[in-house]
Amino acid sequence: MPESSASSDGTLEANWRRTVDRSTKWPVIAFIASGTFWLLVGSVLAIIASLKFNMPDWLVQQGWLTFGRVRPAHLNTVIYGWISMTGVGVATWLWARLLKTRLRGQGLLLTSVGLWNVGMVIGTIGILAGYSRAIEWVEMPLLAFAFIVPAMAMVTAAFLLTLRERRVHHLFISVWYTGAAMLWGPFLVIAILLPIYSGVPESTANWWYAHNILGLWITPIALAAAYYLIPKVIGRPVYSYHLSYLGFWTLALFYNWAGAHHLVGGPVPQWTTTVSIVFSMMMIIPVVVVAVNHHLTVVGHFKKVIYSPTLRFVVFGAMSYTAVSLQGSFQSLRAWQEITHFTQYTIAHSHLGVYAFATMILFGATYYIMPRVMEWEWESPRLVSIHFWTTGLGIGIYITALFIGGVIQGLQLLDPDVAFLQIVEDLKPWFWVRSVGGTLMTIGHFVFAYLLYRIIMRQGAPQTGPTYFRPAPEDMFRSRNTESAPALDEQPGL
Ligand code: HEM
Repeated sequence: MPESSASSDGTLEANWRRTVDRSTKWPVIAFIASGTFWLLVGSVLAIIASLKFNMPDWLVQQGWLTFGRVRPAHLNTVIYGWISMTGVGVATWLWARLLKTRLRGQGLLLTSVGLWNVGMVIGTIGILAGYSRAIEWVEMPLLAFAFIVPAMAMVTAAFLLTLRERRVHHLFISVWYTGAAMLWGPFLVIAILLPIYSGVPESTANWWYAHNILGLWITPIALAAAYYLIPKVIGRPVYSYHLSYLGFWTLALFYNWAGAHHLVGGPVPQWTTTVSIVFSMMMIIPVVVVAVNHHLTVVGHFKKVIYSPTLRFVVFGAMSYTAVSLQGSFQSLRAWQEITHFTQYTIAHSHLGVYAFATMILFGATYYIMPRVMEWEWESPRLVSIHFWTTGLGIGIYITALFIGGVIQGLQLLDPDVAFLQIVEDLKPWFWVRSVGGTLMTIGHFVFAYLLYRIIMRQGAPQTGPTYFRPAPEDMFRSRNTESAPALDEQPGL
């Protein structure tokens, strides 16, 4: 192809990308900004809950600030507010990019974000006011879900409308993951809200639900972002598209059967937990497949994490996915559960998944997406760096403390010679370290929220080029405007 026609193709491509990005602007801003608001609320609730372990008499006079309310309020705000809403913002942007069409259903998406926020306000106040449904992971009152379920359905409708207008034959793996999540997510929430469970089947359904919200809603959205962003930033295709589909289908087939591993040792039929343990071990297949695919994509380009904020956050998240999932598979074994079940070890695992994996990828995705929809740069690479190190170190400290503290706690619980109060005493130092880690993460969240506010308002000194932690050698990254890799999203070989 002559050079001039190649470059005019490049400009056309860049203009088209800009048009597509612009079509996502308001839904993306609304979902990511709302998600970040709930991240701040959730973080403050988390700090209160965490400090209560160290100072049990603190804030006990006001019923709404007691641990039993603050803790589920934290969980619901971060899962349904932060991760879900930001995840939808990231997914909507990915659809327009990967389906090579303007985003459809903007009205539906903007209505959705309004309803979703109303649901979150009702849900959070409801839990704090004492109207929890007392079902783990679905504590918010039914009224809150009366807003959130239609909001989720509207997002699904917008996805299907955009899919119908696609200008590509081949669906890149990120469309499979996000599209499937849009079908699984609302289905799961509706299924758990049905008034048909009681007794043991209720707890089984409860953990089937909570486990699948993690594996079939949060996980596919985060993996979709990683699958798109890693190759995009380093400028080469995903190592193997066959492996990416193998990873997708094995996740789809195996994850759903593993939920009862939360009930190992509980009063449920043995065969249900045995089946769940078998499928938990089978999860090693999709996890290793994704890990190999990501690793072989990055290999030779790893030093780019020194420069690119997106790549650094996303690679951190992708590596954590491998860690949490392999660790989770072994944690489901009865011998392992005997020690770690009902201990702080589970909380370390939870945060390795929901935070070190999913949250870090969402941060990385936001750093990539916002400059494109705002056509404005991040104000300060230094603040982005502070965000990375506070959250990265914070979560590292947090999970290390609780993994170690949890194993000690589990071993002590098995020893009839150790008094229960002694175990509580011995946990104290680990709880303090956890509070330090959580505080660092919260500082990072406020820095992130500040940066997000500034870019949405198009304030602060715009960079002349993309935001890197330090000046990148020429040609290390493709420039934002040409972003050559013209067929990166559509090559069947991806
Ligand atoms: C192969 C993949 C995984 C397996 C086999 C697995 C296994 C487990 C097991 C056995 C538990 C119960 C621990 C206990 O109660 O003693 C658990 C809890 C948990 N897992 Fe995973 N896990 C996996 C991946 C993930 C991922 C990717 C995430 C986050 C996105 C995650 C988040 C959580 C959370 C939040 C809990 C705590 C739930 C609660 O008690 O409230 N897990 N996991």
